[in-house]
Amino acid sequence: MSQRRLWVVAIGLLLTGWLWGRPVLAAEPPPQSNSTNNESCLTCHSRPDLTYEFPSGDTWSLYVDQDTFHNSIHGQEELACTDCHTDIHDYPHPPLEANSPRFYALEQYKTCEQCHSEVYQQTLDSIHAREIASGNWDAAICTDCHDPHATTSPDEPRTAIPLTCSKCHSGIYNEYLDSVHGHALVDENNGDVPTCVDCHGVHNQEDPRTTEFRLNSPNLCADCHADEALMGKYGVSTHVFDTYVADFHGTTVTLFERQSPDLPTNKPVCYDCHGVHNMKSADDPESQVFKENILQTCQKCHPDATTNFSATWLGHYEPDINKYPIVYFVDLFYKIFIPAVLGFMGLYVVADVGSHFVRRIRRNNKGGTA
Ligand code: HEC
Ligand code: HEC
Ligand code: HEC
Ligand code: HEC
Ligand code: HEC
Ligand code: HEC
Ligand code: HEC
Ligand code: HEC
Ligand code: HEC
Repeated sequence: MSQRRLWVVAIGLLLTGWLWGRPVLAAEPPPQSNSTNNESCLTCHSRPDLTYEFPSGDTWSLYVDQDTFHNSIHGQEELACTDCHTDIHDYPHPPLEANSPRFYALEQYKTCEQCHSEVYQQTLDSIHAREIASGNWDAAICTDCHDPHATTSPDEPRTAIPLTCSKCHSGIYNEYLDSVHGHALVDENNGDVPTCVDCHGVHNQEDPRTTEFRLNSPNLCADCHADEALMGKYGVSTHVFDTYVADFHGTTVTLFERQSPDLPTNKPVCYDCHGVHNMKSADDPESQVFKENILQTCQKCHPDATTNFSATWLGHYEPDINKYPIVYFVDLFYKIFIPAVLGFMGLYVVADVGSHFVRRIRRNNKGGTA
């Protein structure tokens, strides 16, 4: 090699070192403690302009914010970059096989299993995992819901939960925000109302449109709505569940559930009347069960129903003097009249039989003495 060439190589090396940071130039022995290790990675990766260009022409930001990482749960636990990136030790890195950031994420998220194997196992059978297996790469993996370099407690504050889902389910999120449950969560920081994961599960979401899910859904609502102490706090009746099970709709769903859980059913469950993500207080004019809207709700399944039809339904009420006076009085009438009539008849019979015996005894007595 000529001297001039050596100079060019030396300057080239210096430049590369300047570009990529110390490790290449200095060739220091591998750092021992985790944090020093991270520092060596961050020499290059804390540079906001560090990017990689895929053969497709798409550029990929390789920037990792040092402070955010340090303050994250994993940073606080002093995880090393290489605890997760187990294939990388120094630079140059092994050749990159992924041809897009999404491809890379789908390969790399499996690294979470090392330390969170229980959660990882739960996700394997979720609807998201099945969607990915069938080729829908937009479905959620660990790192869509938990940024690997900025991991925070996922349920603090509790509003963070629906916000996580909103990234991909924004329509449903907006409906939920406007529902009685969503309002209570966001406006009052209420911890008693359900977020997405109370109804769908966290890591093992099922397909909510199966018959099984539908038939089981009243129990989902009952977890809270049959709890008297919980509902008492909000003045919401807990009779909604017993009256539902007692009425013809609930009875058929309950029986159906036992006999043929796999067949489709059109019997109404709570959300057919109340809405799925947009349920409102029954007094809210926007509620599907508000007085003026209830007929339309019944008509979804009883197309010929008229105002009288919906009015005859007692809803969740036990007959009550204020709400359904006629039914109440008819009920009362039967409750008093029938026992009274029966009681009277009974007494009459007893009295009659009694007097019959008395007369007979007297007659016998007379005959005896005569
Ligand atoms: C000298 C600068 C430099 C250092 C030091 C460095 N990287 Fe990189 N890193 C890059 C460049 C440039 C790329 C772009 C892809 C390539 O060139 O291999 C990259 C790509 C990556 C990627 C994307 C995926 C891949 O496999 O290419 C990850 C992850 C990564 N680095 C992690 C690390 C970790 C962890 C460390 C510390 C052990 C580290 N890097 C140290 C420069 C560096
Ligand atoms: C808790 C595990 C974990 C830790 C710790 C971690 N990473 Fe990552 N990193 C990942 C995963 C998983 C990906 C795949 C991309 C994704 O899903 O967001 C990734 C992606 C990357 C990328 C590609 C660009 C990007 O953001 O997608 C770079 C560069 C990178 N990590 C560097 C680092 C460096 C540097 C550190 C240490 C300061 C570090 N990582 C610590 C899990 C981790
Ligand atoms: C080397 C081990 C290790 C790896 C790999 C790892 N974590 Fe963690 N993670 C921890 C530790 C330790 C904690 C803090 C203790 C705890 O809460 O379990 C934690 C906490 C968490 C938390 C917060 C839990 C809570 O209760 O607040 C989430 C979320 C999380 N990790 C997600 C991930 C994801 C996603 C990945 C993959 C990208 C991952 N972790 C990879 C070790 C790891
Ligand atoms: C669809 C979004 C989503 C996906 C995908 C997801 N998580 Fe979670 N994760 C959450 C939410 C939301 C919480 C908080 C749940 C709560 O507190 O009720 C959570 C909680 C956690 C926790 C703390 C509580 C616990 O159960 O230990 C860990 C650790 C965790 N996730 C790790 C992971 C890992 C690892 C993966 C991938 C195998 C993953 N998550 C996939 C949304 C998700
Ligand atoms: C990264 C995007 C993403 C995130 C974040 C996400 N999902 Fe999904 N989810 C999807 C995709 C994609 C599907 C497949 C069906 C579709 O395309 O709508 C899906 C499907 C579902 C389904 C099955 C219903 C159906 O349409 O097939 C439920 C239930 C669900 N997600 C709930 C949640 C919940 C709850 C959260 C938050 C804890 C969440 N998802 C977070 C992308 C995401
Ligand atoms: C009170 C319980 C409950 C809550 C809270 C809830 N869901 Fe649902 N969700 C359901 C039920 C029940 C269905 C099935 C509806 C059907 O059969 O059409 C469903 C259906 C879905 C579907 C699939 C069908 C569709 O309409 O696209 C997705 C996706 C979904 N929910 C996501 C979410 C997200 C995201 C949140 C939080 C913002 C959330 N859910 C909150 C009960 C709930
Ligand atoms: C995790 C507990 C929980 C679950 C699960 C739940 N709810 Fe609720 N719900 C509440 C609480 C608490 C309130 C009272 C909120 C308030 O008034 O601020 C409420 C309020 C309501 C209201 C308004 C009552 C009124 O008139 O003021 C309706 C309607 C309702 N829920 C229907 C349902 C249905 C239908 C389901 C099942 C698909 C369901 N809820 C699941 C906790 C729950
Ligand atoms: C999701 C569909 C659906 C909705 C919504 C619905 N119903 Fe029904 N309803 C049915 C089915 C199916 C039956 C038949 C039950 C059986 O065969 O056991 C039924 C039966 C009845 C009956 C018994 C007499 C008959 O016609 O068979 C009455 C009364 C009734 N419903 C009233 C109502 C009222 C009032 C509403 C509105 C508040 C309503 N329903 C909403 C599906 C529905
Ligand atoms: C056939 C339609 C229908 C079905 C099915 C139905 N509801 Fe209702 N619900 C109503 C109507 C109408 C009202 C308002 C008048 C009333 O309270 O009867 C109401 C009121 C309510 C209220 C408010 C009570 C209050 O104190 O303000 C709650 C909570 C409720 N329903 C929950 C449920 C739950 C949980 C289920 C399933 C177990 C369910 N509903 C099934 C029609 C229905």
